[in-house]
Amino acid sequence: NGTMRVNVGNVDSPLQIFVRAKKKINDIFIEIDDYVKDAVTFMHAVSGENGIATPQDVANVEAYVSKVEAIREVLKRDHMKVAFFGRTSNGKSTVINAMLHDKILPSGIGHTTNCFLQVEGSDTDEAFLKTEDSEEKHNVQSVSQLGHALCTTRLQESSLVHIYWPRELCALLRDDVVLVDSPGVDVSPNLDEWIDKYCLDADVFVLVANAESTLMLTEKNFFHKVSTKISQPNIFILNNRWDASASEPEFLDQVRSQHANRCVDFLSRELRVCSPKEAEERIFFISAKEALLTRMKEREKPVSSPILVDGHQVRYFEFVDFERKFEECISQSAVQTKFAQHSRRGKNIAADVMAALEQIYNTACNMKATKVEKQRILQEQLTCIEEQLTSITRQMKDKIGKMVESVEHKVSLTLSQ
Ligand code: GTP
Ligand code: MG
Repeated sequence: NGTMRVNVGNVDSPLQIFVRAKKKINDIFIEIDDYVKDAVTFMHAVSGENGIATPQDVANVEAYVSKVEAIREVLKRDHMKVAFFGRTSNGKSTVINAMLHDKILPSGIGHTTNCFLQVEGSDTDEAFLKTEDSEEKHNVQSVSQLGHALCTTRLQESSLVHIYWPRELCALLRDDVVLVDSPGVDVSPNLDEWIDKYCLDADVFVLVANAESTLMLTEKNFFHKVSTKISQPNIFILNNRWDASASEPEFLDQVRSQHANRCVDFLSRELRVCSPKEAEERIFFISAKEALLTRMKEREKPVSSPILVDGHQVRYFEFVDFERKFEECISQSAVQTKFAQHSRRGKNIAADVMAALEQIYNTACNMKATKVEKQRILQEQLTCIEEQLTSITRQMKDKIGKMVESVEHKVSLTLSQ
């Protein structure tokens, strides 16, 4: 189908922190699963008539099997989630495409994205999409087809379309990153619903701003709302369309520091999500359009306008720098929020099953002790009886001896008469 397979293996990526942690915790849960199942087998072996474990004991341990299975299911689906917001036409969809190294999402002038689009890895070779309310898979081979599919499935602004794209075509998707594109924050009045539906489990937010203008109130207000519902959200600000600065090089530094100061101020003093120093590390001046072009060319894909203006390399490096910092941030955050909870639960399950086994062990020990004690008492009684018997026998012997003697005496007396 003309799609070039590329080797996307990147063992140096900071995303590997998450990937490895996920593998590790998965392995641990396989062990916990084995342990719980062994415990169940053991409980069955020691239950039943005259058994040590009661049916309730067995049921208690058995209940952990499904609990562990449920956690393993959740673990399989755990991913890192990044959501992109910003005003219409700032370039959100283009940023996502550049990060995915391909033109996947529809982008263009005017109001393009009209609902939430969640791009995630597909385990098959095919690309397909699914809407929220149906399990039906719509196959997509190209962006135009995707755009068309999105138009024909009449959608509301706050609805969600899942786009499954072959994992092996994008490093981010292969490493379990899920990217959420949104309609412009300036076109929907229902931002609260958006936040509740799509933001609460996001590990990172990217505000795609327009470097040709400045941070807008609608964009700021949206993130004010986000930070009231999520404590310490991780926010990156991309000043996109920075290629525009090439036409006015004399103002470049001045404009850049003006934007940078405003962004630092916004993150550190207005939202209070980080210190000014940390905020500086979260702000980038990029051109998503150029980054996408560069990557399409690298993949030898046809591009429409291959002319890149002055300074494109610097902007591209800054884009790559953003990706690196973003990867570090999202993998650390996701490990913390997702796996800390699983490992706590895993620990508790192991401890609970161990307590149940310990209880059975203690019951067994008590039963043994009681038996031994009973035996000891029995033994004492036996000894006592034995002693009594001995003494009785001795007395009898004496008596019989005496009787025999007196009979003998009487007999001899009678004879001698
Ligand atoms: P909506 O989906 O409508 O909210 O817009 P969006 O934020 O997704 O923007 P989109 O990615 O569709 O980009 C809008 C237009 O801006 C497209 O024509 C892009 O090619 C163009 N564009 C995006 N990034 C850049 C950039 O860095 N520089 C320039 N010059 N144009 C850009
Ligand atoms: Mg868009």
